[in-house]
Amino acid sequence: MQHSGRSLATILVGLLLCGAFRAEAATPAEEAIARGKALVVAGDCAGCHTADPAKPFAGGKRIESRFGSIYSANLTPDRETGIRGWRDEDFLQALRHGVAPDGSRYYPAFPYPYFSKLIRDDMLAIRAYLGTLEPVRNAVPSPDLRFPFNFRVGMRLWNWLYLQPGILMPDQAKGAEWNRGRYLVEGLGHCGACHTPKNFLGADKAGQALAGNGAAPRLDSGDGSAMKSWSVDEITEYLRKGSNAKAKAGPVMSPITTNSTSQMNEKDVRAMAVYLKSLAR
Ligand code: HEC
Ligand code: HEC
Repeated sequence: MQHSGRSLATILVGLLLCGAFRAEAATPAEEAIARGKALVVAGDCAGCHTADPAKPFAGGKRIESRFGSIYSANLTPDRETGIRGWRDEDFLQALRHGVAPDGSRYYPAFPYPYFSKLIRDDMLAIRAYLGTLEPVRNAVPSPDLRFPFNFRVGMRLWNWLYLQPGILMPDQAKGAEWNRGRYLVEGLGHCGACHTPKNFLGADKAGQALAGNGAAPRLDSGDGSAMKSWSVDEITEYLRKGSNAKAKAGPVMSPITTNSTSQMNEKDVRAMAVYLKSLAR
């Protein structure tokens, strides 16, 4: 009796220790999921893909553009209406090239021209995280776009003209923090989607990155850029809190500071500020 009690205790202690070790050393899959979750915040995927807060990432949010309206896709692992059946390659193709599994082209209301700059590992981490979501059945309406934009095939031409797929090569002359900041601002953060002037087909105007567009102020070194007089600390504070002593995010920027930049880790936000400040000397 005594003997079996002691072995039971040994087994219990053993199980507890196993559990403790497992919690400490995350498996590669767990690590990728945690990293993917942080990347999804930095890319503000929920900002467009969550229409109903009770159904996160189930898509169907109506996004207006000058070419008409389009609905965001269901990113949950639902077999019929979500992306459960996708292979890793399908996901990489979508983000890198704006191409759907059936070969049709996405519209750049999905900011793939920016996501295209992500490294493969980060894309796969995002996919790993999305795979852990609750599957939601939600068939998304087709886009309601004006002629000729209602033909997805036109996007082949658009991509050929404007898409520059592929990762950003790190600039060896700059430090790791600057390079991280550039990766986040120009890639995942898709800041240029609003802050870069667009041509008549809605693509970024060449050579005018972050030079301002409509209500979105310029963030470069041009006349009137507030960034020239903001310090790295002030830019960091704005992105982390949605305001600083000089400005407060308005109706368009505040969802981004609330849901994305304020939820990111401080080091990454600071890296973005360091990169932005370097553009606005
Ligand atoms: C500014 C809005 C916006 C943001 C931000 C956004 N998306 Fe989307 N996304 C869309 C729209 C709109 C579509 C549908 C495009 C179409 O139908 O051509 C889409 C489509 C997709 C698709 C294709 C899905 C399918 O079923 O075909 C994937 C994958 C995707 N987005 C992933 C992401 C990820 C990952 C993020 C965050 C890193 C993200 N999106 C952020 C608007 C957005
Ligand atoms: C959906 C469009 C949109 C996106 C995406 C966006 N911004 Fe903004 N941003 C705005 C608008 C519009 C304003 C002006 C304030 C307002 O109306 O909310 C603004 C204001 C700012 C300001 C303050 C500028 C000033 O002069 O007061 C900074 C800094 C800024 N954004 C940085 C960023 C960064 C960094 C990103 C990417 C992580 C980003 N924004 C993504 C639309 C956007």
